[in-house]
Amino acid sequence: MNKQAPIGVFDSGVGGTSIWKKIHELLPYENTIYLADSKNAPYGYKSAEEITSLSIKNTDALLKLGCKLIVVACNTATTNAIATLRSKYEVPIIGIEPAIKPAALKTKTKSVGILATKGTLSSILFHRTSYEFAKDISVLEIVGEGLVPLIEEGKLESPEMHRLLHIYAKQLIDANVDYLVLGCSHYPYIVSQLKELLPDDVTIIDSGEAVARQTKILLERHGLLNERTVKPNLQFFSNAKIDTLAMLLSEYSEDISVTKMEF
Ligand code: DGL
Repeated sequence: MNKQAPIGVFDSGVGGTSIWKKIHELLPYENTIYLADSKNAPYGYKSAEEITSLSIKNTDALLKLGCKLIVVACNTATTNAIATLRSKYEVPIIGIEPAIKPAALKTKTKSVGILATKGTLSSILFHRTSYEFAKDISVLEIVGEGLVPLIEEGKLESPEMHRLLHIYAKQLIDANVDYLVLGCSHYPYIVSQLKELLPDDVTIIDSGEAVARQTKILLERHGLLNERTVKPNLQFFSNAKIDTLAMLLSEYSEDISVTKMEF
């Protein structure tokens, strides 16, 4: 496989760009292709079978575009489909899972919250991780009902977003959590809104940096790190409207292309 081939990243929609940003920060010369499957978002209420078949569709599309490694920038797709993807494809595949382990290790109140989709919280993989690392503490699992559609619409500061976050923040405060794990790649885009509603001593964590580090490790291990230090080709595709995708990536607008494409 060619070292200059792109890294392929996919999510159910625009949220995985929060992960892409961490990857691009750590590996600024890597070429990348991002697929936002916004036409099928949210994945969070679909069955494991549906999520798996959408994940296969996205991976096939990225491989057709010549990607050397796949990042599943979606907790819901990872927790439901990563085993199938890894058994089906030869390329290295990296997934994202809620950072329940660091939260469980660091909590002082012995109470942590996790905000994620229904699909992630009901997955076998999440249950296994939660049992392994957090069985001695209390874990408040909150389904972020309604959040992904609002983020897909770019309504990050809307009254409806505020109303929903207010409900979730109250549950977290009542449970005396000192860590909040963001278990959905869309949610880093609402951190500032959450911080306004939560006490200062609640630490919010996500898995973006860990995924970026793991991407670098796997590229090195497979001899796939791009050694060229020229301006990379950074392509973003959505199979629905591209407005929110372009808005969330506006700081990179000079260097990227954002296009609508069927996949
Ligand atoms: N961004 C996705 C995640 O990390 C899923 C959102 C959805 O489509 O429900 O879980």
